Amino acid sequence: MVDLFDKRYQSAQRCDLNKKISSSRPLIGTAKVPGDKSISHRALIFGAIANGETRIKNLLQSGDVLSTKKCLEALGVEIDKVGDEFLVHGRGKRDLKKPSQLLQCENSGTTMRLLMALLASENVTATLTGDESLSKRPMGRIAAPLKAMGANIRLSDKDFSPIEILQNKDGRLEAIQFELKIASAQLKTALIIAGLYANGVTILKGKIQSRDHTERLLKDFGVELKLDSGEIRIEPGQELRATSVVVPGDPSSAAFWLAAGSLVSNSVIEIHNVSLNPTRTGLLNALQKMGASIEVFNVEDQNESYGSLRVKSARLKSIHIEEPDIAAIIDELPIFAILASQAEGKTIVKGAGELRVKESDRLEAIASNLRHMGAKIDIFEDGFSIEGPQKLKGARIESNHDHRIAMSFSIAALVAEGESEICDVDSVGISYPEFYSELDNLLRGNIV
Ligand code: S3P
Repeated sequence: MVDLFDKRYQSAQRCDLNKKISSSRPLIGTAKVPGDKSISHRALIFGAIANGETRIKNLLQSGDVLSTKKCLEALGVEIDKVGDEFLVHGRGKRDLKKPSQLLQCENSGTTMRLLMALLASENVTATLTGDESLSKRPMGRIAAPLKAMGANIRLSDKDFSPIEILQNKDGRLEAIQFELKIASAQLKTALIIAGLYANGVTILKGKIQSRDHTERLLKDFGVELKLDSGEIRIEPGQELRATSVVVPGDPSSAAFWLAAGSLVSNSVIEIHNVSLNPTRTGLLNALQKMGASIEVFNVEDQNESYGSLRVKSARLKSIHIEEPDIAAIIDELPIFAILASQAEGKTIVKGAGELRVKESDRLEAIASNLRHMGAKIDIFEDGFSIEGPQKLKGARIESNHDHRIAMSFSIAALVAEGESEICDVDSVGISYPEFYSELDNLLRGNIV
């Protein structure tokens, strides 16, 4: 039986491959933003290894999260949909079964990187594979520290998937002290998972200031991590206790409406229940510095805080973003580049080399598509600079099957002169299957 989750994703996959978008009338109304992708992956994975049944409300039902769900099911985890909640029947630690097939992570880096650590920790033999894009993304950054902990992992061509996780001889990982050289939450999370199964205290140092959903969510699952300034200490042997998780709206999806509302004249857009986790508010902070009109209200201060946003169109001015602020805006940099092209003055972004190893080389995709639209942009190895405001003209946009490029340039098309054709928009099903129906609603002017 195909569940609703699959159906929604398949319908997103079936939508037109290319979409034509022209300069628009104001966007008015409330935009519905789905559950946060990072928290959704983690809620399923932690639920799978917890004792008892974890209930998840507002789980993101998208391609990437579906990849995690299917891999966990192949490892023997039962996940049911009951009403509007997902119920994960946790197996407790060290009870995942050896899968009878390849674990297909499709486009999802988070699925592959977190499951590498989980499989190595549980000493389950399995092979992780992905689509063309995922097969080009670096995996050695996760495999190297896991191998240093004693995991038996084989990569293809040194850095890539398919990845074989084989049993390690002791059946247990060694604790390590590890300094993160990249501010990656996927790397941090993989090592926290591995640390929970190791034979001593694992200590993480260095660039640990990336999104902190793992640290926050594990607390709800009854796990205590010691978070001192500059390090995370993970005591092994802690059991995860099932819990209830309410997933707040994804700020990376809300980003498109903050941008559209700011750029398209006379727009007013509201978005409710959006995560305000400070490790994710990079675009909101940047827009506020640029002079955007954004009101934050109904704030609920919780372990994962959330609130409502109201954005109105405004004149924007340029800003500079440097490495320490990159992690909190990394997934929003494609839409930020569109905003920068319309802001007064020279915007400079540095320290964002990670953009080159996302679902596509996003620095190249931003530059080539903006140039197709007639804009001037300089890119460097780790960033870009744009002098604005620039007139954009309609163009054919190559999204490279990258969801965030497709959505960012759909917003650019709203302020361009003439019609744009965005290719391969089915990719939006990876993180925001309802993106185009929400855009249509806002263009029709649903009431705030
Ligand atoms: C994510 C972390 C980030 C982000 C990705 C989701 C996560 O990647 O870009 O979309 O859920 O941990 P990195 O860890 O590679 O920075």
